[in-house]
Amino acid sequence: MITLTTEQASESWEVESLYDLCFAPGREGLSSYRLREGVLPVAELSVLARDEAGILAAAIRYWPVLVGTEPALLLGPIAVHPTRQGEGIGGKLMRQSLATASEMHWKRVLLVGDAPYYKRFGFTRLEGVEMPPPTNPERVLGRALQAGAWDGLRGKVCRYA
Ligand SMILES: CC(C)(COP(=O)(O)OP(=O)(O)OC[C@H]1O[C@@H](n2cnc3c(N)ncnc32)[C@H](O)[C@@H]1OP(=O)(O)O)[C@@H](O)C(=O)NCCC(=O)NCCS
Repeated sequence: MITLTTEQASESWEVESLYDLCFAPGREGLSSYRLREGVLPVAELSVLARDEAGILAAAIRYWPVLVGTEPALLLGPIAVHPTRQGEGIGGKLMRQSLATASEMHWKRVLLVGDAPYYKRFGFTRLEGVEMPPPTNPERVLGRALQAGAWDGLRGKVCRYA
């Protein structure tokens, strides 16, 4: 059985190890990490999935960012341990964290990722929303948590400071 909990400070090293395992070396050089420097993730949306033995199976984090002058959530990283992929754990983390973000009255979420995976959670390509380079614009995806929250919103994604 998989249990979801919010990440505590003492668990941070485990999450970093999981991300190191699941992503290519140098992940922190990715443009999205520039938006995270010096900014804390949203604590309520940092969700862990552990199995019945307490082993970390997956983790998700979100950061606050600005699109132009409007606040948004940057989803990610999300990672599921290679031995637990394809069991629906990623989907569970996505659905629970997005529901919490909605309850917290966040209006919109964006991410950089594979549209074929994220479209099942309602993400579509964001036109005119510019992540720091180099980012493939085809991979910049968004989902409104409040109706129309992305309508007409364009501009550069900046660090929340
Ligand atoms: C991407 C990831 C988070 C998905 O989590 P998961 O628990 O394996 O996914 P689920 O079990 O909820 O869903 C599995 C489905 O997603 C599909 N899927 C997984 N990764 C995909 C991708 N990159 N593109 C398209 N579909 C993908 C699977 O084919 C499967 O499809 P099905 O439901 O039609 O059989 C996980 O595979 C992972 O951690 N990958 C490595 C790290 C990564 O790429 N993170 C995302 C970038 S931030």
